[in-house]
Amino acid sequence: MKGNTLKIGNVKLANQLMLAPLLGVNCTAFRLMCHEYGAGLVFSQMIHSMGLVKGERNRDTMIDFIKDERPLAVQIIGRDPKIVVESLQYIEEYADIIDLNFGCPDADVLGQKMGAYFSKHPEGMSKIINAVASATNKPVTAKIRIGWDSQSLNHTQQAKIIEDAGAAAITVHGRTKDQQYAGKANWVAIKQVKDKVNIPVIGNGDVREPEDARKMLDQTGCDFVMIGRAAMGNPVLFRKCNEFLDHKKLLPRLTEAERGKLILEFIALYNKVQKIKRFTELKQHAMWFCKDIRDATGKRREIAKAEDEAGLVSVIKQQFST
Ligand SMILES: Cc1cc2nc3c(=O)[nH]c(=O)nc-3n(C[C@H](O)[C@H](O)[C@H](O)COP(=O)(O)O)c2cc1C
Repeated sequence: MKGNTLKIGNVKLANQLMLAPLLGVNCTAFRLMCHEYGAGLVFSQMIHSMGLVKGERNRDTMIDFIKDERPLAVQIIGRDPKIVVESLQYIEEYADIIDLNFGCPDADVLGQKMGAYFSKHPEGMSKIINAVASATNKPVTAKIRIGWDSQSLNHTQQAKIIEDAGAAAITVHGRTKDQQYAGKANWVAIKQVKDKVNIPVIGNGDVREPEDARKMLDQTGCDFVMIGRAAMGNPVLFRKCNEFLDHKKLLPRLTEAERGKLILEFIALYNKVQKIKRFTELKQHAMWFCKDIRDATGKRREIAKAEDEAGLVSVIKQQFST
């Protein structure tokens, strides 16, 4: 795609910012909050296609989508095109976009010949994308790493295969499978993909501040910017990035009281929208929200002691003087 239209397939997006798929992080409330603070698109955490198809008992726990969080990309991971297609029936109605994970580096996932396994066997992606794109009228996208290791970078080859197979966009996480999440993301590789294909390219890796989003767009020419770790406990980052991209304005850091209010807002949202509520999950999010503040360690320690929601709320009020 030369020239940005803010569209993935037929799905129109409000801006260029996306919340990355994050396993164990992207619960309903968090996705919704990221939307509210300015993410143009949010991704689900990865969902195992086989789990959806065979896991009758816990299928419900995997499908935690609500209508208020549209547009939403639901990410599926799988190996067998037939099973991936079969899994669509459980998620399609909630998804505006179906995303395929070809980048997960976990040993267990690789052992099942899924995720980043495909960076070594890129031809295999073609069959899955083809099958899924034929089975749905939703745009199908794919998320990759730039290769298996530094000796075998093959991002442009992967990207071409993905485009030719009928994908509507590609996300490039600028790291190899071997890098996992360490080292610097390779933005030159993202640019090389952008130069190679005509579908929208979503750049991903190391966007932590509004200025990084601007730099990634400028240096790589990518169409969209996906933010992962820096968004954890920090949905306001999307508002800050939008403000900087649109008006070159850097919003001030949240005060401690504002951050406390944000955590209380998250707790209220979690209560309202989360289908299956887990106190440990809520507490974990509260800890992630303790970023860039005075005595974050001490605050996390106090949060860890909370035994129930009322206790958590009272710790937040006390620690953040809200
Ligand atoms: C806790 C965690 C969970 C993740 N879960 C997924 C996932 O389910 N699917 C996926 O494609 N990538 C997953 N990723 C990778 C991120 O989507 C993203 O590609 C990576 O963190 C790089 O972006 P960042 O530098 O902005 O964090 C995960 C990363 C982290 C840290």
